[in-house]
Amino acid sequence: MSSSKQRVILVTGANKGIGFEVIKKLLEESSSSSNNLILLGSRDLKRGQDALLQLGSPSNVHVLQLDTSSEESIARATDEIKQKYGGQLDVLINNAAIASWNDTAETARDIFATNYYGIKIVNKYLFPLIRENGRVVNVSSGVGAWALHDMTDEIQKKYKSETLTEEEIDGLVKDFISAIATKTIDKIMPNTKLLGLCYSGSKTALTALTRVQARRWSGAKNVLVVSVCPGYCSTDLNNHGPGSRPPALGADSILYVVNTPKADLENGEFYQDGKKLPQSSACTMDLSTHKQHAEDKA
Ligand SMILES: NC(=O)c1ccc[n+]([C@@H]2O[C@H](COP(=O)([O-])OP(=O)(O)OC[C@H]3O[C@@H](n4cnc5c(N)ncnc54)[C@H](OP(=O)(O)O)[C@@H]3O)[C@@H](O)[C@H]2O)c1
Repeated sequence: MSSSKQRVILVTGANKGIGFEVIKKLLEESSSSSNNLILLGSRDLKRGQDALLQLGSPSNVHVLQLDTSSEESIARATDEIKQKYGGQLDVLINNAAIASWNDTAETARDIFATNYYGIKIVNKYLFPLIRENGRVVNVSSGVGAWALHDMTDEIQKKYKSETLTEEEIDGLVKDFISAIATKTIDKIMPNTKLLGLCYSGSKTALTALTRVQARRWSGAKNVLVVSVCPGYCSTDLNNHGPGSRPPALGADSILYVVNTPKADLENGEFYQDGKKLPQSSACTMDLSTHKQHAEDKA
């Protein structure tokens, strides 16, 4: 679906992978009927400019330098949106993320800084710029649901509580990071067979954060806040893992929640390919094959 109204849309981490495909598809929409103003977020300016060149430098796409793990960079990007692009956003797509198979104290810190805390800070700065009836899309992952499934009943209950708060998620995240650092993660995820726990755990927290922020923000400006899994797509994030699908399909999964009429979506929910997913579910993949693939490529 496309609309004739001009929308201002920011996609973070859009210089490659699924985010780049989202920009390509938004451009197609723009050329057909609307005239979206598209901000291509990239933590590295040169990589963003190269991506823009690959698109043929269309006049309605602008590179916005934005490192989502740095509050300073987020504050600068917010000022740039205010000064150069009218200071309002219709859609914010929090797509940037990092992943690792290693579960060390250092990877835990880095992964949560980008995939969880970074998105919280981006939303804190940019929510005031979201227009009435706007949308915030947090790109999460089905692995977050798998991780939650493997957490203790007590932690699952907390994550699924209807009264969960951001402070409580921060507390759960802090405990998770410290369990990784002290190699006691089995206390949080006993008997789990999952691999890449920091990445999965960061997405559990992001999916939950989405529910909490949806509750908080829907009243203020009627903003829709949802999380979405793009599906298992061939990108650098997973070293173009075996059995992965084209990233353009991941972009479709994201754009479904950007373009579907609000009445057909539920605020705070988690979607993939147009379908609502549960907050927790059992893992359906043999992750050891994927880890082996990553190690072979390294
Ligand atoms: N691929 C999959 O199978 C899959 C499955 C489920 C969910 N996802 C999610 O889909 C989203 C896109 O992933 P992808 O597969 O397209 O990965 P990707 O190809 O590795 O792209 C990730 C993008 O995020 C950017 N990024 C990383 N850290 C950043 C930071 N601190 N600030 C700003 N940008 C940053 C990267 O920039 P650089 O180029 O500078 O590194 C890159 O542009 C992620 O949220 C990921 O978790 C992917």
